[in-house]
Amino acid sequence: MIKRLLSYVGEYRKYAILTPLFMIGEVVMEVLIPLVMAQIIDNGIQGTGGMNYTLKMGAIMVMLAFISLFFGAAGGRAGAVAAMGFAKNLRNSLFDKVQDFSFSNIDKFSTGSLVTRLTTDVTNTQNAFMMILRVGFRAPTMLIGATIMAVRVNARLSLVFLVAIPILGGALYFIISKAHPRFLEMLKRYDTMNTVVQENLIGIRVVKAFVREDHEDKKFRDHADSVRKAQFFAEKLVIMNVPVMQLCMYGSILAVLWFGGNMVLNRSFEIGELSSFLSYIAQILMSLMMLSMIFIISIISYASVQRIMEVLDETPNIQDAAGETELHLEDGSIEFRDVSFSYANDPENLTLSHINLSIASGQTIGIIGGTGSAKTSLVQLIPRLYDVLDGQLIVGGHDVRDYKLRDLREEVAMVLQKNVLFSGTIRDNLKWGDENATDEEIQAACESAQAHDFVQSFPDGYNTDLGQGGVNVSGGQKQRLCIARALLKKPKIIILDDSTSAVDTATDSKIRAAFRKKLKGTTTLIIAQRISSVCDADKIIVLDEGKINGFGTHEELMKTNEIYREVYESQQKGVDEYARTNA
Ligand SMILES: Nc1ncnc2c1ncn2[C@@H]1O[C@H](COP(=O)(O)OP(=O)(O)O)[C@@H](O)[C@H]1O
Ligand SMILES: [Mg+2]
Repeated sequence: MIKRLLSYVGEYRKYAILTPLFMIGEVVMEVLIPLVMAQIIDNGIQGTGGMNYTLKMGAIMVMLAFISLFFGAAGGRAGAVAAMGFAKNLRNSLFDKVQDFSFSNIDKFSTGSLVTRLTTDVTNTQNAFMMILRVGFRAPTMLIGATIMAVRVNARLSLVFLVAIPILGGALYFIISKAHPRFLEMLKRYDTMNTVVQENLIGIRVVKAFVREDHEDKKFRDHADSVRKAQFFAEKLVIMNVPVMQLCMYGSILAVLWFGGNMVLNRSFEIGELSSFLSYIAQILMSLMMLSMIFIISIISYASVQRIMEVLDETPNIQDAAGETELHLEDGSIEFRDVSFSYANDPENLTLSHINLSIASGQTIGIIGGTGSAKTSLVQLIPRLYDVLDGQLIVGGHDVRDYKLRDLREEVAMVLQKNVLFSGTIRDNLKWGDENATDEEIQAACESAQAHDFVQSFPDGYNTDLGQGGVNVSGGQKQRLCIARALLKKPKIIILDDSTSAVDTATDSKIRAAFRKKLKGTTTLIIAQRISSVCDADKIIVLDEGKINGFGTHEELMKTNEIYREVYESQQKGVDEYARTNA
């Protein structure tokens, strides 16, 4: 796992290698300084060296300090560059990966969790990486260097470490083993909080319309507090590290002063040596403290790394057909052969069961059914937004799984029920359908979708900026732009999932008339609530609870299909009453 993570350092490898080298340089200087110090005290001040010697050694000490400073600063900079580059690469691959996810992959993670993984988790990993680069080599080198020096100065006094280090190690082990699950929990709560924020921001208009601000406020506060609690629970364990460290450090210094002081009184130890020994003790304990910090930050980031890896390891469950052969749709025919489908991939819990259908190329098909009857689920299988659980779906002469996704979706345009436009101009958005569309083509598509007139009425026409998520147009206008965008793809199959629900009946029928005239060879599937939207279709599918209840022309269904007749009559009654009252 570490090796895989390291591959994301990529072009920043140079900095990643330089950092520890600089840091080791810094340590070497820091270890040498107390040695020079001892020389000054023992030879210069107490010995025979005198002022000259003291000044000379003092100058060397200052020089060493400057070199150490340079190495430290250079190492800090290189480490930061490497860590930020690493985070950038990691984020990019995560984002790439998410783009390959199918709908069901995304359902599995939830968007809030994906947001946390791309932001907080990457930041945690970045911090740990920087820390390890800067201190991961520095601390052990310092530990070893200072220990060697301390033992050389006075081996007997070094026995103090034999007591301090096991205490420290034990405490650290305890903290690490307990903290990991707590950090995982904390991150999970971050996910939920991000989901809440995201839902709120996307739905802020609805929140305001229903005056739910207070409720949303409270909801958010609860989640923020739950994050705080989890964080507190995890951090409170981790900060125990500090007092334990301090205890060991001051305990050791006390012991050294006591035993070392006695040795000095016995004349078996020089004062200068004692002072450098104390510096080494401080360095050793410092490096232990840094090591423990690395451990701690590693546990925090270990939880994050796991979560990042989960995303990177997720196999997009809708993938291109294997092999090089490029298949192309021969025509716009669609055939369902005993197709079953389940969102949960569970044969006991089918959303669509045993669908058999045959639609000839170029036909216009209406789809009617109550909400939840699986209309959307049915048509989503055609551009392979989800895969069938059982059976076979043949589109354009081949199983959908045999196409490259790009080739299939190029030819199957779907106007989703919950559609979105993106920030940018109307023209930019329409060009999603065809990057190279000319202005004439764009206009023609908009005319068919009955969008041209209202676009023209905007002062900036096709250059009108839509704002984030297309807020500047009404629901019905948005639907018509989405239809135009799909038309620009010049697909063999076009699917409208309740795409004219916010458009008035007259415009709706104009759109259908334009479709009949301009989309002669294109197979058209229209999901609608209104019978009037589908009654002139070649055939109509009546769906009920994931099963086909009827399939035929308007006249046939009126005779044979009860559900269809009921829907027709309830809608017709409204029209008749309207006609009567306005007569
Ligand atoms: N992403 C999803 N994950 C799980 N279940 C879903 C999902 N989308 C829809 N469903 C369920 O599948 C059933 C059919 O939904 P759908 O095809 O959207 O119906 P319709 O479009 O006819 O209103 C519903 O019971 C719905 O709750
Ligand atoms: Mg639907």
